[in-house]
Amino acid sequence: MTSLPWSPASTPLMLAPMQGLTNDALRACYIERYHPDIVFTEFVRVHTQSRKRIARVELAEIAVHDADVPLVVQLIGNNGLALAEAARQVQDVGCHHLNLNLGCPYGRMTTGATGGELLKEPEKLAELLIALRRSIQGSFSIKCRSGYSDPRQLFELLPIYQDAGIDYLILHPRTVVQQYSGWADHDLTAEAASQTSLPIIANGDINNAATGQRLLQEADVIGLMLGRGALADPWLFQRIRGELPGEVDEMQRRRDLFELLTNLLSRYLVKFCGERQALMKLKDFLNFIPDDCLQRDLGKLKRATTAAGFSALLESKFSR
Ligand SMILES: Cc1cc2nc3c(=O)[nH]c(=O)nc-3n(C[C@H](O)[C@H](O)[C@H](O)COP(=O)(O)O)c2cc1C
Repeated sequence: MTSLPWSPASTPLMLAPMQGLTNDALRACYIERYHPDIVFTEFVRVHTQSRKRIARVELAEIAVHDADVPLVVQLIGNNGLALAEAARQVQDVGCHHLNLNLGCPYGRMTTGATGGELLKEPEKLAELLIALRRSIQGSFSIKCRSGYSDPRQLFELLPIYQDAGIDYLILHPRTVVQQYSGWADHDLTAEAASQTSLPIIANGDINNAATGQRLLQEADVIGLMLGRGALADPWLFQRIRGELPGEVDEMQRRRDLFELLTNLLSRYLVKFCGERQALMKLKDFLNFIPDDCLQRDLGKLKRATTAAGFSALLESKFSR
């Protein structure tokens, strides 16, 4: 039995991988202040042509993770040999929890189909999962959509996942074709959880405490993964645990965002090359804050051209 990144009696709440957003600086900020149980890297491309398999800078980012909160490295690729070698490289730098992306709807690389596109060829997928499983000593999970174009494909795929020996699966119950349209169908999550012995982590549209708590009670899932909801409200982990109120008023939302954005700005100024790039990255983040009542002031933040200007706006519009 491989060791999972959470203890058996707990209900893990995970921060989702989000390309362009959940970089090491953001993950460190969330770990320090907002307490996810587990964090994921953004997807790490596995190169079929280059013997390096993973870019040096990405491997270095993985190697520096030393927090008590487990880091899961998510790989995206389509070649069993290359993926297995990449998995070994990741383990050699000290990270033992790996995940394969089977969900990205934009997952084509120059070398062919990856991510959610792999669901189109279940037999090839089965071989790839078995090859990868053999090369991973720690936990091996997948993050998948319900199917390529048919959500019921999930029920053909579950035995493949189980036979390949994966330890748990994170289910985002939309199809690949659907991309992000419509809603995540968590009736499907509950049905899947009732039909497989594989531990399932529910993901998709868990944007408030009530939704998360309901899913934990009504679907037989062992944990949740929070993506856009945790960007919009970083306290969502604690709200779902019942450690903070489920909802807050606008003034509190502003104060929460002041704290988060101040913290992220200081980290991004260290991580990124120059304040222009740091601000651009912060602006990407701001696009995920949905509150209607904040859009005017968020628009002003997006137009800031210096870090000092951004901080001054934060102070005047959000800190009261
Ligand atoms: C900007 C963005 C980038 C994403 N990047 C990744 C990624 O690198 N790997 C992955 O498995 N999913 C990725 N996703 C999907 C999310 O992890 C998650 O499955 C999806 O957003 C549904 O969950 P949510 O409704 O809680 O956001 C991304 C989503 C967004 C919005």
